[in-house]
Amino acid sequence: MSPRRTAPNSRGRVGVAIPAAGSGVRMGGVRKVFLELAGRPVLEHALEAFLAEERVVSVVIALAPDDAASPPDWLTSLDPRIVVVAGGDTRSQSVRAAIAALPDDLDVIAVHDAARPLVEWALVVRCVDLALGGVGAVAGCPAVDTMKVVDVDGAVLDTPDRATLWHAHTPQVFPAAALRAAYEAVTGEGTDDAALVERCDPNLKVMMVDGGPGNLKVTRLVDLPLAEALLARRPRNGP
Ligand code: CTP
Ligand code: MG
Repeated sequence: MSPRRTAPNSRGRVGVAIPAAGSGVRMGGVRKVFLELAGRPVLEHALEAFLAEERVVSVVIALAPDDAASPPDWLTSLDPRIVVVAGGDTRSQSVRAAIAALPDDLDVIAVHDAARPLVEWALVVRCVDLALGGVGAVAGCPAVDTMKVVDVDGAVLDTPDRATLWHAHTPQVFPAAALRAAYEAVTGEGTDDAALVERCDPNLKVMMVDGGPGNLKVTRLVDLPLAEALLARRPRNGP
């Protein structure tokens, strides 16, 4: 029997939490979300796919406290769904602050790093549809390099089977109650949002969604020309 495609879930209220309060240490200490790519800030590119999705009812952006106190005009005038809050010292604290400022009546919450400007609308839709079905959805892609487990000195301890390994990107989208519970229950840091949800509710299924290697995070200086080249080749980002 051929698998039946489920109709995309056209209903549902989606909130988006955007951590954007980092200090860009690996890029030499710049607020990289305000760097321009193809004439527009990294943050504006990262917002585009979410603002194009009609089920998104609120987008809360956690900026560094001084930026949150006087956010740029282009950001506050971009879309009425946008709210700015002050982030914290860590990514988890910034996500927590953003989630707290989202409305209460959401079905799912998407978390997306402002430093991922290439996220595509179709990927957002796939992750949101999965989460509306009651599972966690994590954008990522399969590992292409052989991966090594090492000790603090770099000595190899193990070589896991690459076929079982994926990179975890964002967006990461969850039923709203599950994500809120994870951020309330789990203290300390996770390197991503799914790690907190997995720890808080091991019974919740979390699915990886292949968004390809192009959904890169602007992390080091070398990523800027790469991101700009990919942006230039991309078709319209929306429905
Ligand atoms: N972030 C945040 N608050 C923090 C730290 C990070 O909101 N205290 C955000 C960043 O702005 C970014 C995302 O989390 O959008 C992913 O973080 P990362 O790529 O590590 O950015 P930075 O922390 O700014 O970079 P670095 O780790 O090199 O300092
Ligand atoms: Mg960081």
